[in-house]
Amino acid sequence: MNTNTHFLFSLIFFSFIYKAKSDLDSFILNCGSKSGGTDGDGRKWEPDSKYLTSSENSIPAKADYQDPSLPSIVPYMSARIFSSESTYKFSISSKKRHWVRLHFYPSSYSTLNPTDAYFSVVAGGATLVSNFSAPITAQALTQAYIVREFSITPSNTGNLKITFKPSDKHKGSYAFVNGVEVIPMSDVFEPATLVGFSNQFVDAESSSLQTMYRLNVGGQYIPANNDSSLSRSWYDDSPYLYGAAFGVTSEAEKNVRILYPSDMPDYIAPVDVYSTLRSMGPDLKLNQNYNLTWLFQVDGNFMYIVRFHFCELHLTKINQRVFDIYLNNQTAQRNADVIAWSGSKAVPVYKDYAIYVSDKQLWVALHPSTSIKPEFYDAILNGLEIFKLNDTAGNLAGPNPVPSAMLLKAESEKMRTFAPSKSESHAGVIGGAAGGAAAFSIVVALCIAVYHRKKKVLDPESGSSSWLPLFTSSHTTASKSTISGKSTASSQLSSMAANLCRHFSLAEIKNGTRNFDESQVIGVGGFGKVYKGVVDGGTKVAIKRSNPSSEQGVHEFQTEIEMLSKLRHRHLVSLIGYCEENEEMILVYDYMAFGTLREHLYKGNRSPLSWKQRLEICIGAARGLHYLHTGAKYTIIHRDVKTTNILLDENWVAKVSDFGLSKTGPNLNQTHVSTVVKGSFGYLDPEYFRRQQLTEKSDVYSFGVVLFEVLSARSALNPSLPKEQVSLADLALNCQRKGILEDIIDPHIKGNINQKCLKKFADTAEKCLSDQGVERPMMGDVLWNLEFALQLQVNPDGANLVAEGGANNVSEDLSHGNNMSANGTNLSIGGESSVSEESNSLNTSVVFSQFIDSNGR
Ligand SMILES: *[C@@H]1O[C@H](CO)[C@@H](O)[C@H](O)[C@H]1NC(C)=O
Ligand SMILES: *[C@@H]1O[C@H](CO)[C@@H](O)[C@H](O)[C@H]1NC(C)=O
Ligand SMILES: *[C@@H]1O[C@H](CO)[C@@H](O)[C@H](O)[C@H]1NC(C)=O
Ligand SMILES: *[C@@H]1O[C@H](CO)[C@@H](O)[C@H](O)[C@H]1NC(C)=O
Ligand SMILES: *[C@@H]1O[C@H](CO)[C@@H](O)[C@H](O)[C@H]1NC(C)=O
Ligand SMILES: *[C@@H]1O[C@H](CO)[C@@H](O)[C@H](O)[C@H]1NC(C)=O
Ligand SMILES: *[C@@H]1O[C@H](CO)[C@@H](O)[C@H](O)[C@H]1NC(C)=O
Ligand SMILES: *[C@@H]1O[C@H](CO)[C@@H](O)[C@H](O)[C@H]1NC(C)=O
Ligand SMILES: *[C@@H]1O[C@H](CO)[C@@H](O)[C@H](O)[C@H]1NC(C)=O
Ligand SMILES: *[C@@H]1O[C@H](CO)[C@@H](O)[C@H](O)[C@H]1NC(C)=O
Ligand SMILES: *[C@@H]1O[C@H](CO)[C@@H](O)[C@H](O)[C@H]1NC(C)=O
Repeated sequence: MNTNTHFLFSLIFFSFIYKAKSDLDSFILNCGSKSGGTDGDGRKWEPDSKYLTSSENSIPAKADYQDPSLPSIVPYMSARIFSSESTYKFSISSKKRHWVRLHFYPSSYSTLNPTDAYFSVVAGGATLVSNFSAPITAQALTQAYIVREFSITPSNTGNLKITFKPSDKHKGSYAFVNGVEVIPMSDVFEPATLVGFSNQFVDAESSSLQTMYRLNVGGQYIPANNDSSLSRSWYDDSPYLYGAAFGVTSEAEKNVRILYPSDMPDYIAPVDVYSTLRSMGPDLKLNQNYNLTWLFQVDGNFMYIVRFHFCELHLTKINQRVFDIYLNNQTAQRNADVIAWSGSKAVPVYKDYAIYVSDKQLWVALHPSTSIKPEFYDAILNGLEIFKLNDTAGNLAGPNPVPSAMLLKAESEKMRTFAPSKSESHAGVIGGAAGGAAAFSIVVALCIAVYHRKKKVLDPESGSSSWLPLFTSSHTTASKSTISGKSTASSQLSSMAANLCRHFSLAEIKNGTRNFDESQVIGVGGFGKVYKGVVDGGTKVAIKRSNPSSEQGVHEFQTEIEMLSKLRHRHLVSLIGYCEENEEMILVYDYMAFGTLREHLYKGNRSPLSWKQRLEICIGAARGLHYLHTGAKYTIIHRDVKTTNILLDENWVAKVSDFGLSKTGPNLNQTHVSTVVKGSFGYLDPEYFRRQQLTEKSDVYSFGVVLFEVLSARSALNPSLPKEQVSLADLALNCQRKGILEDIIDPHIKGNINQKCLKKFADTAEKCLSDQGVERPMMGDVLWNLEFALQLQVNPDGANLVAEGGANNVSEDLSHGNNMSANGTNLSIGGESSVSEESNSLNTSVVFSQFIDSNGR
């Protein structure tokens, strides 16, 4: 009780302090932009020009191309280009450390080639990067953009200067940056035990540090605005796991509350980090034979501090789970016992260890203690941070990573695999059966290529590369494992999928569904029945049981498990576990309390949704699909987008479900996957139907039908109506073209839709239904347009300004955009723009889709 009050008090206290502080001297700059903007996580960015000490030597610029994996237009699509040494100056409170984050997107900016940019950055006396090449680094890390985070020692001058200087060793060199963040931070660093020495400590107090990795172990990506007041992003740890044994992840039960001890401020790490963990697994015998290991690429010849975050979520007693911690094969900690450290279940604790790394790898390994005999041979970890300390010369910069020979080879192999042969691209239409066979071999080839790549990543012999992504966004991390798509090729579940989600016994499932009682059925699909159920003494779940007679079931079951066990996104339904026993195939999902979107539109006897709610649901679903299409290295095509596959949780958050038909899509120069047509009538892309060629634009088409369904609250296909009204897609397009769309709008919302919003929404839906895939927008454009429509609905006056700026008129945008890129001779052309940032975003995204389209995607 006492601790509770204290916890609450400190929570309020610290968030209060943080508020005051952050208002005081946080700087978040969208470099090269005139008006700032808001990024995908909702953070606000301001223009940078007033912090430059001189207006000479630098110009604003716009990126020529928007990579689909960019998390947001702000701050990446604008940049500041420095032709010679230039400095940003910030006045800050002198006693604090500051985070300095630099964002780089190595695109071409007008006539400037990114490979010419070599430069150094110095801040507060520490060299952050030197001879830095963003494109080389990005290539080596297989990323489109780079974020570097540093913690700079307190300044005693009241100023923090950040200086960009082009290298003088390369002709024509320049410097650039897309985003700069300067954020005050509490001093989170403490003396760390130096591994390999007894009673020696490394004190970071006088050093600047670079964050190398920050992982929410066993959990998912935590965006900066969900961090506990230090605006850090936490990433999934799975890409860094080494070896075949991955352990299992678990999370705190819903009724468990994480209690920070009184001497530990909550900004050390957020609750989300402590409420998920990775352990070695339930097989205690197996655990004794392996180390739970992560492998990180780092720069050689630096001191590193490795911070381990722990929080026991299941056990309560000392000596139940005791383990050893190794760093680079040296013992960092013997007999680690989280309960002994923290005193209790659900109480977090963290430990710091320092190690000097002369090579380029950092191994982190856990193994059950053998000297003590704990009750369970197991180990856990909740979070991990790795920081690099500056060397004695105040330098933090490492060399540019060398894209490894293996990476280059893998890339060229991949290209060969996917480059469409002449005959294939000209033949175009392939018959159903042949098409199916071709698809299979493409998918198999993909699996093999991917499998090789994964193998190589994990091959310790290969050493040199910085192949593993450093600081990937959640989006790309998830993708790395998503792609295996092995289900298509093999009939076994990959051991990884099996490890990533929980296994349930048939007894548990039967108990939870009252032996599959018909009263528990909440849905029926091609796959079988879906039951409502309870597991673990109270957790509500949805249980999908395959129809044993359906042969297709096996395949779809495995596809779904492979896809979903690795995809984690707020707008995708999450898989909790599965059961494969006695020929039964059962999937267990989070229970979506509010059911399907369709039952809230019609056929549900539910009270009608407001227009704003409908827009928000569409935006959520669009986000989920956008993530599938572009979040992964390989596009994932859902193939069965419809209102019954969009589910709603108890907070009305939309989640895309049912990945049984999903396929990894085309990549690189390949424009489509040939396949046997599947999906649901009423939503089927006519082009896909005609040509059996699947692209992500097929999902866009189906989503267009969903949009009209939401607007009109009628089914996609209604055979009882007169012929010209059977198909909603045909009917809506007809009405839209005749200007009588009003006629089919759901009467419940008809009077409450802002006209501009309606126009935006209907135009977007209409574009999605374009007959030709290439004419349909990308899912990202759909998302932007729906968000804009929502703005028009909730804030018609505010949005007006933007609309008048031209953003509302697609054809104007396009010519504007083309002129922008056609006229690349003068840098300032793309850089300064008179329209507001929002309309800029829209412009760029429209331009972007056009750009992609013209390449035939
Ligand atoms: C971020 O926090 C908000 C509010 O607490 C929550 O709804 C959202 O799911 C969180 N996002 C992630 C990715 O954790
Ligand atoms: C640690 O041990 C592994 C084998 O277990 C080896 O591959 C690796 O090179 C070692 N790392 C260091 C830094 O010695
Ligand atoms: C675990 O790692 C340590 C340190 O590298 C090593 O000595 C030990 O043999 C490993 N144990 C197993 C089972 O691999
Ligand atoms: C980092 O640089 C500072 C001076 O800038 C120096 O005092 C400190 O010792 C350096 N840190 C390490 C670990 O060498
Ligand atoms: C700068 O980096 C490039 C690419 O990594 C490298 O080839 C070159 O030698 C480096 N130059 C200096 C002066 O370190
Ligand atoms: C079955 O469920 C009841 C409560 O719903 C629970 O008490 C019991 O332990 C469960 N039995 C099994 C075998 O899971
Ligand atoms: C795509 O094709 C173009 C020419 O058609 C070629 O120049 C380019 O290198 C190819 N890109 C990839 C990634 O294969
Ligand atoms: C959009 O711009 C085009 C060309 O400038 C113009 O013909 C058309 O009327 C505009 N449409 C709207 C809705 O403003
Ligand atoms: C540029 O804009 C002008 C008028 O604004 C237009 O006539 C011209 O066609 C545009 N150029 C391109 C390449 O779109
Ligand atoms: C490029 O810009 C210059 C000066 O702003 C202008 O004179 C020229 O017509 C433009 N070129 C094109 C192709 O629009
Ligand atoms: C380029 O921009 C500068 C100033 O921004 C201007 O003086 C110059 O005339 C422009 N050049 C061309 C070719 O438009």
